Amino acid sequence: MVNLKFVPQILDGNRVRDEIKAECRPRVDRVIDHAGRPPGLAVVLVGENPASQVYVRSKTKTAGELGIYNETIAPPANISTDQLLAIVRELNERPEIDGILVQLPLPKQIDEARILLAVAPEKDVDGFHPCNVGLLATGRPGLRPCTPAGIIELLKRYQIPMAGRHAVVVGRSNIVGKPMSMLLLQENATVTICHSRTHDLPGVCRTADILVAAIGRAAMITADFMRAGAVVIDVGMNRVTDRGEAERIFSDARLADFEKRGSLLVGDVNPQDMARVSSAYTPVPGGVGPLTIAMLMRNTIESAERRTGLC
Ligand code: GUN
Repeated sequence: MVNLKFVPQILDGNRVRDEIKAECRPRVDRVIDHAGRPPGLAVVLVGENPASQVYVRSKTKTAGELGIYNETIAPPANISTDQLLAIVRELNERPEIDGILVQLPLPKQIDEARILLAVAPEKDVDGFHPCNVGLLATGRPGLRPCTPAGIIELLKRYQIPMAGRHAVVVGRSNIVGKPMSMLLLQENATVTICHSRTHDLPGVCRTADILVAAIGRAAMITADFMRAGAVVIDVGMNRVTDRGEAERIFSDARLADFEKRGSLLVGDVNPQDMARVSSAYTPVPGGVGPLTIAMLMRNTIESAERRTGLC
């Protein structure tokens, strides 16, 4: 008997990121030609959260590569809500700034909702302002949150059909889970949102044609959660430093990497199960991660085009 081994398609976020970046370059030039200045992005990074520092450096580096003017404002961790509001309001007033991003999470004393509400909706390149959330919910044009918008872009570019398919989103965060569900709905998927209180989570997940995991728990989604042939999108980025946990998750060459480095980056989905059971999946790293920054660049350029009267 022939043993037909299923070879899943790896959805390469780095490739799609490079495509999106290549499409951004002529648009940056067009803004410069038209407005006499490049698109401008301001990133506000409060305190010294090492993960946030890495993300922000990546964002500003990519902006620089594309010729987008960028600056990082880095107030100390003990800043008050009012002081941070003043920074945001000043950025709202500056004509050469098209995009404002306040890196999350913010320190506990800060009223996050008030800060996100203060960002001018037309400069809200994260798509977190209630105005943009409302535009998304009602299917009207507006700035979309970068990670879920990047996932839709990835699915489209790999020609993975969404219309009529059952998409199950695990996680209901404002950053990923909720906007992801809205965007999938806009693509005419049938959408189920799951969370920590969902009954029989593995059973619900097994009904998914497209499974999106955005929970923030290393390798929580195992083969038991996947229908054979499902498309699996892993949004998680968890650093595993515990040896026992690494051994539970990996039985392959990556364990040797763990020994060398003392830690490993793991998504919300068990990587070996995903490679064995799915028909297509996003690896970690190199799947969803690179898309977020590419979409931030696209949002910044879009905002510049709109603000300079190009569209
Ligand atoms: N923290 C984690 N993801 C994000 C994001 O997409 N935007 C911002 N501003 N902060 C984040």
